[in-house]
Amino acid sequence: MNIRFANISDIPSLLYIEECSFKHCDRFKDYQFRYLITKGKGLFFIGNCAFTGFDPLHVIYSSIAYVYLTNTGRIYSLASIEPGMGAYLLHFIENIDSDLKTYYLEVRRSNKKAISFYKKNGYKQYDIKYNYYPDGMDAILMKKDLQCKGIIG
Ligand SMILES: CC(C)(COP(=O)(O)OP(=O)(O)OC[C@H]1O[C@@H](n2cnc3c(N)ncnc32)[C@H](O)[C@@H]1OP(=O)(O)O)[C@@H](O)C(=O)NCCC(=O)NCCS
Repeated sequence: MNIRFANISDIPSLLYIEECSFKHCDRFKDYQFRYLITKGKGLFFIGNCAFTGFDPLHVIYSSIAYVYLTNTGRIYSLASIEPGMGAYLLHFIENIDSDLKTYYLEVRRSNKKAISFYKKNGYKQYDIKYNYYPDGMDAILMKKDLQCKGIIG
């Protein structure tokens, strides 16, 4: 899989991935993607892989991750519509900056698949925020201490 920075021409594909991955109220909107890609302080990566069985004009990208980098990182969004690509992209963003020591993220308590995915990839729950989401769902707070290779830093 090729991984590169997202640009605004990717927005239709990103919206498609959101539609496949999240409930309506949790999805990024067009204007939010536009802001994150052009003005956001984080990095927005997109994974590009070949699909079979999909229209390649509409589904070219498999995964997204938005990360805010200081000496710690926050995984703001990660979505994959191709099994196995989530772990691939997660591994990539964990190794982008050698100064990056810890990654943090929040995940819906009801999202058993994502919680299991993150645990399998070394993330541990360190707290919980009750009634965190607009629909009242709790957030599980997870983190992972990294040993970065430093792809870009
Ligand atoms: C969570 C997500 C990024 C994982 O990406 P992926 O490419 O599907 O995951 P991978 O194939 O790399 O990893 C599979 C692992 O996920 C977990 N998993 C997958 N499906 C699962 C399910 N139905 N129930 C529980 N765990 C599941 C397991 O740990 C699994 O490992 P295993 O196959 O050894 O059992 C992806 O499913 C996704 O985009 N989900 C919707 C968006 C989302 O919830 N993002 C996270 C928000 S914080």
